[in-house]
This record gives sequence, structure tokens and C-alpha cells, in this order.
Amino acid sequence: MKDWEKAYQEGITPWDKGDASPPIAHWLQEHSLKGKGLVLGCGLGHDVRLLAGYSGQVTGMDISQTAISKARKMDAVNNESYIVADFFNLDEAYTQSFDWVVEHTFFCAIIPDLRHSYVRNLVKVLRPKGYFLAVFFLQDPLDPNTDGPPYKIERASIEEYFAKDFDIMESFIPETHYECRPTGSEYLCWMRLK
Ligand SMILES: C[S@@+](CC[C@H](N)C(=O)[O-])C[C@H]1O[C@@H](n2cnc3c(N)ncnc32)[C@H](O)[C@@H]1O
Repeated sequence: MKDWEKAYQEGITPWDKGDASPPIAHWLQEHSLKGKGLVLGCGLGHDVRLLAGYSGQVTGMDISQTAISKARKMDAVNNESYIVADFFNLDEAYTQSFDWVVEHTFFCAIIPDLRHSYVRNLVKVLRPKGYFLAVFFLQDPLDPNTDGPPYKIERASIEEYFAKDFDIMESFIPETHYECRPTGSEYLCWMRLK
């Protein structure tokens, strides 16, 4: 399994583009997220700070202590906070704690065997009828000598994982993206817990 902490300590973090996800930034121009939110696998917190500019209370979560320390050193936006935690071993205190969850290239970063567990944990941390906004990365592994991360995700399989528990309200290939991520490499989904 990938050693995320080592990657942040060594500064080898090619997924980090130094700014928040353009598809999320664009989406927020026409949608709003209310209440308490969680950003999964938030890395250096670019998306946390973006979302905190729009919404009340946003928590960024990452397994890497170094990533979270770096995130905390950046200029805070409104009521943002961070926790170092493993999403697959979360404290029970987080059960039904959030009105919405956002993710950006976290689902593709975990080994495929953990995907059902990811959905179970997502359902657990959300309050009833909570929302989930995701920017999934659809591209093949960047290093042809490994399976990933990122691990390949098919668009059709996203529905297979999430449709049992979520109504998918909106899903599309964003036109707005980082320059280095071509159109079609990302897929935005906006869902609500059934
Ligand atoms: C591909 S990176 C994306 C980071 C960030 N979302 C971004 O786009 O810059 C995946 C992130 O998930 C974090 N991560 C991996 N496994 C995790 C786990 N079990 N619980 C919480 N965070 C995890 C990694 O430390 C890393 O920051």
C-alpha cells in the first residue's frame, strides 16, 4: 500500500496542483453546501479552504500528519479545521456528524478492495439525507509499472458502488479543469443519501 506520509515528507505529491479543484470551484458558483462539511483525503487543504469560503464549518481529514501540519500552516479561511485520521478506522464520534462530504481524487487513491468499505463509511459519517460531492479521477495509473494509485475507475462502476445508498442528482464530465488534466479525466457527481 502507498505510504502517503512518506510522500508528503519527501514532497513527492504529483496530485497536488497547488490550488483547489477547478470543477469544484466552478460547481460552487451555482450550488450551495449548507451546514457542517467534511473533505476526505484533503491533503494540503486547498479544497477545504475553497469550501470554507462558501460554507459554515468545514473539516479536512487526511491520514498524513505532515499533510495536515502543512495545511494548518496556511492562512485559515473562516471556520476550517483539520483532523489526522484514517477514514477506514474512524472514531464512532464521527457517526452522522456531517451534512455533506466532498472528495477530490481520494476514491481513486485507495485500493479497489476498499471501495465498498469507503461507501459504508461515507454513509456512516453523513447525517440523514446528507450530500456527497465527488470529483473522481478516471485516468489510468500514471506509472505503467504499477496498478495504482490512481487505481482505474470506470464511470459505470461509480454508479454500481454508490446507487444503492445515494440518489445521483447530477453527474458530468467537467469542462473546467486543471490544465494538466484533460477533459474526460475527471467526473463530477453530486449525490444525496437515500
Ligand atoms: C491523491 S491524494 C489527493 C489529495 C487531495 N484531495 C488533493 O487533490 O490534493 C489522496 C489523499 O488521500 C489521503 N489518504 C490516503 N488514504 C487515506 C485514509 N485511509 N484516510 C484518510 N486519508 C487518506 C492521502 O494522504 C492523500 O492526501
